[in-house]
Amino acid sequence: MNAFTKIEDLVLPMPLETRGFTVTPSQQSPRLLELTFAIDTVEAFVKAVGEWPVQALEYKSFLRFRLGQILDELCEGTLRPVLLNTILSRATGGMLIKPVGLDDVSQAEDMVKFTTACAHLIGRSNYDAMSGQFYARFVVVNTDNSDSYLRQPHRVMELHNDGTFVNQITDYVLMLKIDEKNMEGGNSLILHLDDWEQCEEFFRHPLARREMRWTAPPSKKVSEDVFHPVFDTDAVGRPTMRYIDQFVQPENFEEGIWLNALSESLEGSEKKLSVPVPVGSFLLINNLYWLHGRDRFIPHEGLRRELMRQRGFISYEKPRYERGQ
Ligand SMILES: [Fe+2]
Repeated sequence: MNAFTKIEDLVLPMPLETRGFTVTPSQQSPRLLELTFAIDTVEAFVKAVGEWPVQALEYKSFLRFRLGQILDELCEGTLRPVLLNTILSRATGGMLIKPVGLDDVSQAEDMVKFTTACAHLIGRSNYDAMSGQFYARFVVVNTDNSDSYLRQPHRVMELHNDGTFVNQITDYVLMLKIDEKNMEGGNSLILHLDDWEQCEEFFRHPLARREMRWTAPPSKKVSEDVFHPVFDTDAVGRPTMRYIDQFVQPENFEEGIWLNALSESLEGSEKKLSVPVPVGSFLLINNLYWLHGRDRFIPHEGLRRELMRQRGFISYEKPRYERGQ
């Protein structure tokens, strides 16, 4: 079976076959595609972008797009349509991307460049207030006293969307594993809204479209509250979500009880996918209809995990013939 057969809305013509990378449905679900880049492609990319340190990408936004172009050219133009069509397709909208040969923390800079190339073939990554850059690297260790569950190992990080407490469009989330030592457990957990058993029930509830208040803790460096409902709809009326349990501030009993029931329903879903992400690999998901979280891990004194995230909006110019020119 062709992994693309489920993609219904093509924004760019799909290549008959890919070059430099392969696409298969993941072991977990046909909704999550697995893209594996051949070692030759990865090595050629690392060499081609060697002249620019990550700092150059921080200073010059347009270089991030040039990196995307270089990677796409190495794939003979077959990469961008696959990334863009997949991230926009309701049936899939999720990818686990594996660049073969990038698998050690010593290659962290190259990993950041590779993810940046992919992200800038579909849109643009947002400013991340936590790091002051277009990406954020952060470390999880055995002990932590931070003010959210992001870095706390022994807890499940519940299913949520990103970008809920900022006034930035957050269409996609990219999560890269840079390093992992002494880790047992801690898989990424993801859930597609169309797989969630009670989605329709919560989406139809009167509180689904009630404006609620969202506040971030100090570490996020976001000082203003934002207001929006938990549910919205896409262009054809299907449910989308902007939800996170830790930062929503219900105004009254009814809102609190409804949010608690929603949280329990999400956490209890049998349709959650548990995805191990190897070092150097990353998840790229549509943030509007995929929720994500993290499973608990086993405490260990030498535990270390380093992650990088990019969040942004999807943006592209339609081919000219589609504009009737
Ligand atoms: Fe998140």
